[in-house]
Amino acid sequence: SSSAPTHQDEFQSPSLPDQVAAAKGRYTEVFGNPPHWVVAAPGRVNLIGEHTDYNAGFVFPLAIERYTVIAAGRPLKTAASDAVRVHSTLFDETAEFSLSNLEPKRRDWTSYLRGAFAGCIERGLHPGTLDLVVDSKVPQGGGLSSSAALEVATATLVEAVTGRTLDPVDKSRLAQKAEHEYAGMPCGIMDQFSSALGAAGKLLLIDCRTETAELIPLDDPGVAVLVINSNVKHELTGSEYPERRAQCEQSAKLLGAATLRDVSSEQLEANRAKLDPLLYRRAHHVVGEIERTTRAAAALQAGDWPLVGELMYASHASLRDDFEVSCPELDVLVEAAQQIGAEGGVIGARMTGGGFGGCIVALVRAGREREIADRIGAIYLERTGLTATPFVTKPARGAHIVEG
Ligand code: ADP
Ligand code: GAL
Repeated sequence: SSSAPTHQDEFQSPSLPDQVAAAKGRYTEVFGNPPHWVVAAPGRVNLIGEHTDYNAGFVFPLAIERYTVIAAGRPLKTAASDAVRVHSTLFDETAEFSLSNLEPKRRDWTSYLRGAFAGCIERGLHPGTLDLVVDSKVPQGGGLSSSAALEVATATLVEAVTGRTLDPVDKSRLAQKAEHEYAGMPCGIMDQFSSALGAAGKLLLIDCRTETAELIPLDDPGVAVLVINSNVKHELTGSEYPERRAQCEQSAKLLGAATLRDVSSEQLEANRAKLDPLLYRRAHHVVGEIERTTRAAAALQAGDWPLVGELMYASHASLRDDFEVSCPELDVLVEAAQQIGAEGGVIGARMTGGGFGGCIVALVRAGREREIADRIGAIYLERTGLTATPFVTKPARGAHIVEG
């Protein structure tokens, strides 16, 4: 709505205190009094381990320094005891719903909030009537989990308002359930878990079978995380994601396993004849990706950056060729990174998130982030006619109460 560059164009991490101040200011403008509570929940980027979470495998994400902030207070005028009004600064729009009738089938941007409120209320945490302002620096629809950040921020707000604490893993589960039942998207646990349990300076090696995470420091001062948004979103995710999930479940069943996590590469090869070529390729991606993820985590801890990079490129190729969730724009970005290569300061790159658009993640040599982003952006523009949006991030602190 303004001609100034938006936050989504910022290369460095935006300041959370500035964002909090802006959200509070907006709340006061919209609702006529200052807010009482402020919470923040981050988006995430996944370094490796894609489409493995719903196969009980490993994922290796980090929370990013881009937050969804919610400022909240009690309505100034007496409202119904269960009325919620919510203003989104993204849509510049105020919506309403009732905590006693959360309407799971109503699909709009408040679905993520309604679903998270439902999960909290189910657990005995009832916040009562509220006015809210949602302000997010997580680009929407870019595969960086703006929706998970909104769900987790909402659950964190209910913790602040009720003065009660949810177990953070349970909080990510309730947020995941909100995505399933209120947004209609049968996602795994990665996004909500990362937003709820992210830690400054740490990657999360999440075992999605046990829903536990090992915190792994990303503390090599010579290595930086560069995220590049392709700024395309092919409207395929809706139908393709559940289809991939079903294909994975069917492959596991045909292989006599509970999940693809229980199948090794050797077992998959030995039993290849049990799967048609398409199901084989799907399973081949998942089984290989789970192995790549644990290997990448070990290589990263050992500082073996060439191996980490090799595994990232292999992950991308597998998502493109076997799992078929990439798209030409993501492929161009990764090819550009690979072309610049180790001599140019690129350690590795791959698509990140569900696919069909969104972002790539690259590990690059610190100090060369801007130069690399510019070179990749120039190649992207030349080959697609599109502008990419890059930014750098460090692993960020997960969801937390900021005020109140
Ligand atoms: P992502 O990859 O970013 O999670 P999704 O398509 O899953 O993409 O979720 C994006 C949706 O989340 C938006 O369409 C909108 O409904 C909701 N959303 C994200 N950010 C905001 C915001 N700032 N205000 C309101 N709704 C938002
Ligand atoms: C996301 C989904 C995650 C994960 C990812 C692919 O869109 O929300 O749970 O499955 O795709 O790794």
